[in-house]
Amino acid sequence: MFAITGASGRLGRLTLAALVDRVGAAGVVAVTRTPGAVAQTRRVRTRTADFADPATLPAAFDGVRRLLLISADRTPGRLALHRAAIGAAVAAGVEHVVYTSVVRAADPGNPVPEALDHGRTEALLTASGLAHTVLRVNVWPDLLLLSGLARLAVSAGELPSSAGDGRVGYVSRADTALAAAALLAGEGAPPGRLLDFTGPGLTDGQVASALTEATGRPVRHRPVADHEVAGALTALGVPPALATGWGENDPFRRAGWFDVPEDGTARRLLGREPVTLTDFFASHRTELLGG
Ligand SMILES: NC(=O)c1ccc[n+]([C@@H]2O[C@H](COP(=O)([O-])OP(=O)(O)OC[C@H]3O[C@@H](n4cnc5c(N)ncnc54)[C@H](OP(=O)(O)O)[C@@H]3O)[C@@H](O)[C@H]2O)c1
Repeated sequence: MFAITGASGRLGRLTLAALVDRVGAAGVVAVTRTPGAVAQTRRVRTRTADFADPATLPAAFDGVRRLLLISADRTPGRLALHRAAIGAAVAAGVEHVVYTSVVRAADPGNPVPEALDHGRTEALLTASGLAHTVLRVNVWPDLLLLSGLARLAVSAGELPSSAGDGRVGYVSRADTALAAAALLAGEGAPPGRLLDFTGPGLTDGQVASALTEATGRPVRHRPVADHEVAGALTALGVPPALATGWGENDPFRRAGWFDVPEDGTARRLLGREPVTLTDFFASHRTELLGG
């Protein structure tokens, strides 16, 4: 039996659909805190569980052979949530765990705040003795839509950042779901315990060009200093909390923490190249043009 945790989240729902397409609904269990939010159309079984309430986990993982552990969203105590899930997977006799991490999660000195819990979770998996595969996912361009930054940059004709020539290998959330489902199903899986799921590295100048190409509106990259980023994004109209959150990664992007070599993992898992940034933006053209 296959199980996906976090099944009601955005990644969870997409992955569930992709997994059912591959293996059928009968052998799939959706594990979530909010079963009502999991679309019933796929006819998968749901089991209610919360990593914060470990007593719910034995029944949720009972009989599960391959488990996709979707990382919880970034909250204090996330590592403890992951520790509980891994412990329950061991106790339930799960044969293989797939975990969604981030690129360079365990690199010494990684300053990216998001990476810390992931690196520690990877270490917990190793210490658990569970057979596992870590899908180290690069940045989703979906975040540029969610924050409104991409639309506002198109409207203003400029994308302010201090990331310089730092490159990010964007891969979409939808492609991440397809790759995670393939990995869980055991199909096309490249060898190795740590897999980088990344696209080609792009500078913010190239992100601006992708926005231009996808929308037909000229967008240029405007270099600013680190201390000016949050203010520049807020001035565009990005909500302050999101502007600060996005901007705090600019020095890390500039320093190359999201620039990892493509090694064919994405192609192998997807059976094609990942969707390019230009095509991703083009598929959201109406939204980017304020429609
Ligand atoms: N690579 C990237 O650029 C990137 C960007 C954003 C996020 N991420 C990571 O990918 C994950 C999924 O993203 P998303 O957009 O689908 O997030 P989302 O829609 O906000 O969903 C949050 C996810 O966290 C799970 N979760 C939170 N607290 C939990 C708990 N106590 N026990 C079990 N599960 C818990 C939720 O599961 P339920 O079904 O139980 O609600 C849900 O799957 C995020 O949590 C984050 O770690 C990666």
